[in-house]
Amino acid sequence: MTILITGGAGFIGGHTVLALIDRGEIPIVLDDLSTGNRAAVPSGVPFFAGDIGDTELVLRLIQNHRIDAIVHFAAKIVVPESVADPLNYYLNNTVKTHTLLQAAVRGNVKHFVFSSTAAVYGNPSSTPVSETADPAPLSPYGRSKLMSEYMLVDASAAYDLRYVTLRYFNVAGADPARRLGQSTPGATHLIKVALETALRRRSYMNIYGSDYPTPDGTCVRDYVHVSDLARSHLAALDHLRDGGESRTLNCGYGRGYSVRQVVDAVRRVAGVDFEIRQAPRRAGDPASIVANSDELMKLGWEPELNDLPTMIEHALEWEKKLTAVT
Ligand code: UFG
Repeated sequence: MTILITGGAGFIGGHTVLALIDRGEIPIVLDDLSTGNRAAVPSGVPFFAGDIGDTELVLRLIQNHRIDAIVHFAAKIVVPESVADPLNYYLNNTVKTHTLLQAAVRGNVKHFVFSSTAAVYGNPSSTPVSETADPAPLSPYGRSKLMSEYMLVDASAAYDLRYVTLRYFNVAGADPARRLGQSTPGATHLIKVALETALRRRSYMNIYGSDYPTPDGTCVRDYVHVSDLARSHLAALDHLRDGGESRTLNCGYGRGYSVRQVVDAVRRVAGVDFEIRQAPRRAGDPASIVANSDELMKLGWEPELNDLPTMIEHALEWEKKLTAVT
């Protein structure tokens, strides 16, 4: 049976496609290439350029390829951008997920794996945060994803469809075999920005906020290697195929690093110093968020690349490769 990967030309979707084909699964990719990269999809994997909101297209793919599971990545993912343009986030992340879900139900797809986010928690009252914590997103991005989570819960109660929602923490790194990495131009994510600065593609970088209630005043995040995260989707699919019930699960390592610690680690791994500027807080940023992923581990997920310098090293190798071709 075939798995439909929406957003499979993106950073996380692309690594999940690799994890799937590495274990002999048959994925097909639907991506509108708004931020994805056609070259991220390995040759041999059927690729369709199009919109997840195009019901006829999605239904045709479901029928023609006998899709039994959808792994849904296609989304907008930048927190400050969602604050500046919330309606675009609700359209892309919520409205179109509704359309996709409706097509899944009409097409009789039984399994759905959904990319959600730690941003649904906002500033959790205790950390590491587990899935039982009340969601309280601070940004339209987090709310746009949380609404989709609710739709899935209700849809699975009403229809013959089971889901796993994965709440990703901060995704970083690149494929250890160097097949793929983060290629989106104009990236805003911390490790990518720091590496671009280390490689002199930026003359300096900002640290947003130094007055948070954290040990060094900068925000704390749980950075998870993209290849480990990709494998969490395999665990989710196995769980659903084994008849497991619908679940909402965190995916992180349970260890937090501050922005300053990450920047220092990038300096060490890259072996260069670079200019940091202190900037005001960025809208929508929680102070500290670290995962409790015990439930995901019970499904068989085992982190293999749980080491910040390794993550940075893999991302650096990818960044150098990008520099070499641009
Ligand atoms: N940061 C800087 N300078 C930069 C970029 C980021 O100081 O140039 C800071 C941010 O202010 C934040 C931290 O680094 O405190 C991490 O920021 P990222 O932009 O790398 O990631 P976010 O935490 O904002 O969001 C990411 C994903 C979301 C996901 C979230 C989960 O983009 O999709 O992690 O915690 F929901």
